[in-house]
Amino acid sequence: MCGIVGYNGKDKNTLHVLIDGLKALEYRGYDSAGIAYKNNGINIIKSVGKIDELEKKVDYNIKSNIGIGHTRWATHGSVNITNCHPHNVGDITIVHNGIIENFNSLKEELENKKYKFNTKTDTEVACALIDLFYNETKDIKKALVKFMDKVEGSYALGVIVKGDDNIYSVRKDSPLIVAKGDNGNFIASDTIAVSKYADSVMYLKENIIAEISSDNITLFDRDLNIVENDFKEIDKSINNTDKCGYDYYMLKEIHEQPKVFRDTVSSYLENGIDSLIDKMPDFTKYNRIDIVACGSAYHTGLVGKNLIEEFADIPVNVEVASEYRYKKNFYDDKTLVIVVSQSGETADTLAALRKAKGDNIDTLAIVNVEGSTMAREANILLKIKAGREIAVATTKAYSAQVAMLSLIALNLASAKGNIDKNEIKDILKDIKELPVKLENTILNPEYEKIANAIYENESVFFIGRGIDYALSMEGSLKLKEISYINSQAYAAGELKHGTISLIDEGTPVIGILTEDNLVLKTISNMEEVKSRGAVTIGITNNNIDSNFDYKIEIPKVHKLLQPLLTVIPLQLISYEVAKLRKCNIDQPKNLAKSVTVE
Ligand code: G6P
Repeated sequence: MCGIVGYNGKDKNTLHVLIDGLKALEYRGYDSAGIAYKNNGINIIKSVGKIDELEKKVDYNIKSNIGIGHTRWATHGSVNITNCHPHNVGDITIVHNGIIENFNSLKEELENKKYKFNTKTDTEVACALIDLFYNETKDIKKALVKFMDKVEGSYALGVIVKGDDNIYSVRKDSPLIVAKGDNGNFIASDTIAVSKYADSVMYLKENIIAEISSDNITLFDRDLNIVENDFKEIDKSINNTDKCGYDYYMLKEIHEQPKVFRDTVSSYLENGIDSLIDKMPDFTKYNRIDIVACGSAYHTGLVGKNLIEEFADIPVNVEVASEYRYKKNFYDDKTLVIVVSQSGETADTLAALRKAKGDNIDTLAIVNVEGSTMAREANILLKIKAGREIAVATTKAYSAQVAMLSLIALNLASAKGNIDKNEIKDILKDIKELPVKLENTILNPEYEKIANAIYENESVFFIGRGIDYALSMEGSLKLKEISYINSQAYAAGELKHGTISLIDEGTPVIGILTEDNLVLKTISNMEEVKSRGAVTIGITNNNIDSNFDYKIEIPKVHKLLQPLLTVIPLQLISYEVAKLRKCNIDQPKNLAKSVTVE
């Protein structure tokens, strides 16, 4: 979602710090961007589009030591210069990430107090409200306390005040860090925005006001008593954003998957299955698991469900977080709620985690970003080691999440005695050999050929049964995310109950066939669409005699690991299609990497 950066420096380098920060945060939103800096008063520059467009308007000769910046993913009001942040009302200028839910009633109240609004944004209302409270109290910290009391919804704010040399920040349900460096202090949505300049960082807690001066960061509670801070050194390796010769981050990240798999699983298997049991929590006390997530992470949950139910005999319920957080949940003290999230900040997933925790249900987070809110709040953390993922459409984090769920299934299956020693030996052998098999699968030259056959179509279907249905859903999402082709995933046996009416001469149907006991069934479904004119593409680990127009063969491994290989052709076909359609692969339209609003 929107990204925030702010700097209060001893040097006069603010414009460079803000633009560098916004470039690093562009993955969060790239509709429009803006900065406000102090130099003979407060100056605001805004631009629609990428940060490069904003940078064209910036004169780096101007020196300033305080500023805030914002990259926007529109929530209220269309994408235009007026709606773009920072917003200024009276003495107050702010940048905001989140949604002020009661902004309509607040706006009415403020209009009755003679405030006038130029934009359709909730942020301008927030800004006016702070200005009102500032005028009443003559103290910005008191004004922010009143603001927190009055607003409903989520916010992370960077605030500058006319005639005041500090930046102020508060947050609720939207992430914000404060950071310190030799030449000044910072706020940002994500450490990556300031890691080039700052040395230590801390996540700002809710109900705390941060006062950022050029040489200090002071934190206050709601009664305005000073509270302790807890800064940690920044891991500078996150600054490495080199594409390493690849055209796109997505392609680089696809190629990183063999290493990511090794990094994610190796520490759990140092001494074979014994260390897997030792290093993971005892799952045998649960008789039900709820997996909750959004987007691709939700799809990893569906893969996990197939594996855990089959190998560990525990019912697994997988739910989209935006639904789970508001519905009746049938969990009890023998339920484990697992949230899966690359960023660890997705608003709906976080809310689901908090709901379960609030009901005293055990929670476990499978998360990629160290120190993220979910990583900090879940009872148990299993960290995947995907490294920084920059492309908006996830690939390596998806695989690492699947790998972690496979390990959980293996742990449970082994702890419950559901698999014997020989099978465990085979699985451990497959785990060892998997990185090479992944590499070979990534290098298969067929993907470009298939992309050529399908990239001009208006719709594409993905079908599969069992775990292959879960993978079809990820394949379909990947294709629509980055190529904008309308694609749908169906349980192979379900297509004929309506959707088959959409199959015309030349419609591509991608079938996934890796489940031994279901392969022949899916082949029949592929025949059904072929006889209605579909172009059939089969992805299989079976030596099947089929009539497909195109076939991609992937290595066969133990079922617990198979999805990691099956997803590779899906990722690379989508990538090649998007390339042929000349799409912006790393930053698809309307999407954001870290979705911190509902
Ligand atoms: C966004 C991204 C998806 C991602 C989803 C969940 O929609 O574009 O790629 O799967 O958020 O994100 P999370 O960080 O919770 O995994």
